[in-house]
Amino acid sequence: MTRIIKIFDTTLRDGEQCPGASMNAQEKLQIAHQLARLRVDIIEAGFPYSSPGDFESVKQIAREVKGPIIAGLARARGEDIDAAAEAVKYAERPRIHTFIATSDIHLQHKLRKTRDEVLEIAVEAVKRARQHVEDVEFSPEDASRSDLDYLCRVVEAVINAGATTINIPDTVGYATPEEFARIFITLRNRVPGIENITLSTHCHDDLGLGVANSLAAVMAGAGQVECTINGIGERAGNACLEEIVMALRTRHNFFQADTNLDASEIIKMSRLVRDITGFPIPPNKAIVGANAFAHAAGIHQDGVLKSQMTYEIMKPEDVGLDSNRLVLTSRSGRHAFKVRMAALGYDLEGDDLQRAYQRFLEVADKKKEVVDEDLIALMSDQDVAHEDEYELEYLTVMSALGGVPTATVRLRRGEERFTEVGTGVGSVDAVYKTVEKIVRTDHHLTDYIVSAVTGGTDALAEVSVRIARGPQIFTGRSAALDVIEASARAYLQAINKLIYYGTRRSETKRLTAQAV
Ligand code: KIV
Ligand code: ZN
Repeated sequence: MTRIIKIFDTTLRDGEQCPGASMNAQEKLQIAHQLARLRVDIIEAGFPYSSPGDFESVKQIAREVKGPIIAGLARARGEDIDAAAEAVKYAERPRIHTFIATSDIHLQHKLRKTRDEVLEIAVEAVKRARQHVEDVEFSPEDASRSDLDYLCRVVEAVINAGATTINIPDTVGYATPEEFARIFITLRNRVPGIENITLSTHCHDDLGLGVANSLAAVMAGAGQVECTINGIGERAGNACLEEIVMALRTRHNFFQADTNLDASEIIKMSRLVRDITGFPIPPNKAIVGANAFAHAAGIHQDGVLKSQMTYEIMKPEDVGLDSNRLVLTSRSGRHAFKVRMAALGYDLEGDDLQRAYQRFLEVADKKKEVVDEDLIALMSDQDVAHEDEYELEYLTVMSALGGVPTATVRLRRGEERFTEVGTGVGSVDAVYKTVEKIVRTDHHLTDYIVSAVTGGTDALAEVSVRIARGPQIFTGRSAALDVIEASARAYLQAINKLIYYGTRRSETKRLTAQAV
């Protein structure tokens, strides 16, 4: 008998909470739509009381994203719960997720409350949430470091108050698999009524055990797993969705469990989160890393050619990677390009197709063979075009050993052209300072990451940048054969987003409809 484990994705809440991962409303909506295509069961869309921006974003996702349950997080306080209820109320199936810490460490040092006081607050919170919605999840924060007898009391009390899901978080990533499983077994043995609710697990990866602990919880009776795409999240991150889902599927004989997910959407999902957050994926990352299905050792290659089963436990196609690798050249026509891009998950039409094809030709003219990794990298800066966007028209950098790097940059915006000259401590710095002279936006660069897409000195350089204006973060990515050009384009993309989303929020909706 296969148990179906519900997948509760918290990329937009716990994932977004980690430093540098904040996303704007349009980006969150884009991710939520892709999560629905991935067929996750629950999307935790945000923490509505935490800011007006988060409130609006949860509300927009609740209105527009169909399929999954849409959850909003709330501390165990009336105003938080009411805000979460208001934000999720337009969802087809709304959920309120309320929490309060139950470990003595949190009670004494953070909440300064007794166990009895916290128990009462938890019960009142669940009752209040139940006045708004039927689907209420309760989390005893820091459960894995809580006294087990007390945890059982709290869980029993909130079930009686109407909680329909009880989530057990390993908030600080402290548990080990056997120990964590014991908590679930104890709750199932001791708490009356637990058989009528869904038990859930929520793990962090501080000791690198997030996925192992989640799977141990599943074996011990958890029917829901909370996780994030690419494992992004607080500190070392949350348990990683794609690893959990593929472990259950690949080791079905062991777990006797599966999920409702369409795993062939995993790669697309992972790349979208990477592109929006600007957090790179290490090449050796399980399931979604560039090398996850690459066989380099001769013995392995020989074995896989004879039978995939020798060294492959999953098929790349299962997670949405096209194993049928093709090489395009400058002689490849627009149709071949379009078909290849569709196989890689990019459905391009009209102007978008034309722009992408032009970028491909520019690269293919210089680099004889364009492989899938190059095409994916080139797509990273295909952003939504708008008339106020700055475009790079001309760029030179003079740099000599012992000299001062000097850049000349010409940008176009609509019919206007702007040219400036500037210097910096290095070539990229000179270009960025010169761009800043032209655009004059009030921001600062927080991250600049450069990597080579393939091997060789003719590899495409891929650049990711993040810029900040107050609490707002904007990301830019670009790939080009020249690292200075990629740097300039990535920076301009982030600046264009800042100008567009930062100053024309009212038009976000129109843009969203185009982008999704
Ligand atoms: O890690 C944690 O404890 C949380 C709770 C709010 C579920 O994120
Ligand atoms: Zn968490």
